[in-house]
Amino acid sequence: MAALTSKQTVAVIGAGTMGAGIAQVAAAAGHPTLLFDASPEAIERGIGQIDKGLQRQVSRGKMEESDRVALLRRITPADSLEALADAALVIEAILEDLEVKRELFSRLETLCGDSTILATNTSSLSVTAVAAKLARPGNLVGMHFFNPAPVMKLVEVVSGVLTDPAAARTVFDTAAAWGKHPVFAKSTPGFIVNRVARPFYAEGMRLLEEGAADVATLDTLLRESGGFRMGPFELMDLIGHDVNYAVTSGVYAGFYYDQRFLPSLIQKELVDGGLYGRKSGRGFYDYREGSEKAVAQDATPASAPESIRVCGDLGVAEPLVGLWQAAGIKVQRTEGSGEIRIGNTRIALTDGRSATRRGAEDYLGDTLLFDLALDYNSASRSALAAGDNCSPAAREQAIGLFQALGRPVSVIGDIPGMVVMRTVCTLANEAADTVFQQVCDVAGADTAMQSGVNYPLGPLAWAERIGLPQVLEVLENLLQAYGLDRYRISQLLRRKVEGGNRFYD
Ligand code: NAI
Repeated sequence: MAALTSKQTVAVIGAGTMGAGIAQVAAAAGHPTLLFDASPEAIERGIGQIDKGLQRQVSRGKMEESDRVALLRRITPADSLEALADAALVIEAILEDLEVKRELFSRLETLCGDSTILATNTSSLSVTAVAAKLARPGNLVGMHFFNPAPVMKLVEVVSGVLTDPAAARTVFDTAAAWGKHPVFAKSTPGFIVNRVARPFYAEGMRLLEEGAADVATLDTLLRESGGFRMGPFELMDLIGHDVNYAVTSGVYAGFYYDQRFLPSLIQKELVDGGLYGRKSGRGFYDYREGSEKAVAQDATPASAPESIRVCGDLGVAEPLVGLWQAAGIKVQRTEGSGEIRIGNTRIALTDGRSATRRGAEDYLGDTLLFDLALDYNSASRSALAAGDNCSPAAREQAIGLFQALGRPVSVIGDIPGMVVMRTVCTLANEAADTVFQQVCDVAGADTAMQSGVNYPLGPLAWAERIGLPQVLEVLENLLQAYGLDRYRISQLLRRKVEGGNRFYD
């Protein structure tokens, strides 16, 4: 089945944050769009919200005034559910309550024709459960938009057990025709994004708990070195801890309390204390007037070494060699297992072991580790971790070497996997497991994370850039260090490495 034509009517139920945004998307694609809400004032507010956004676009020169008027004209307030009977697609974006949604769809089913596709924008309920009491459960599809719907490209097209694949296909093709990036997903807790993204928050909070660094330093490293648009703490403060904690708890319960998804006590404390983030004035950061903005910790300037030895291939970190040469540092290349030496000081990319453990295993106390960067050429900050037995002089040498890149250095605690590497590997592991369990395909997982939460790369494509054997090694070391199911390795990732294969062939 192909996409709906723009002549076909789309109805949206619920004119709140999501419903209004979805109605705008449908109307922008040319559909006659009906908007219904249990509260007539909400419809008025919703249309007002749409118009405000459109006016902003007109004033910025991004939209013609005539297009704004035409788009608004295509949205008609509906005063009853009966008025939606002729719609080809009805998208529900009401209260997140299973019984209320079930009742609504049961009524819609009696009002609409057999071919009307019923879509739910639920972010946490099972699509199978929403459809359970319908006479035609095959017509019900999850159509999960992201906030703000007119801006965010991702639409998860979620199939329950009884969803008709043809109905899901129509929703997929329609979303694509609307300029969205749809991905198919099987109805499972968190679908794709809300599941795969869990480690982004969880690892941040574990790093904080374990004293790796303060929130500003961790956020800054993930932005300036990891290339994420926002760090986990500022993002959780923006989402609201009540909402983020509820999603984590929902996914945790949804997977029968699999320890992999264990929520964080740090976040629970914030929720219990009413520290919801930006909206309440305090969360991990303080947003109250007059409060000082927390900033990342920078190491004090140290002098750069004149020369270094690069032993073996640095793998994903290889671009650093050219950058050091460009900074005037003499580089001597020798055989080795991929590390940098300044005299007896050894510096290496984290492999998921702590610097202390690596130092002890190789009888090299002066061991320091550096973190993964999305792109070493364009990163604007570096992170280093020193082992417990590392001398102050070795530490200074490593700091000086990385400062020679012309970027600040944050020295963090000696935590296995450091910050960016640990985050990216655990994201890739969860994405791999999501694919392994047939929730979506490889491209779907990556598209979802790039288009739904703006990750700079899909986690699986990113894992390939690092090298799948290296990612597996990091996870194996994390698993060994902590013994937690959080780091249980996806069978798919393991199999890819064992077979010498990739996710994208
Ligand atoms: P909201 O609270 O802003 O809007 C909900 C609207 O539904 C209200 O205007 C309310 O009057 C109306 N409503 C409630 N019960 C109704 C009923 N029985 N019949 C008709 N209208 C009814 O909620 P929001 O944030 O727009 O969320 C709506 C849905 O979208 C929920 O299922 C939510 O889980 C999902 N969602 C929310 C996202 C978000 O970031 N807010 C993101 C993706 C999905």
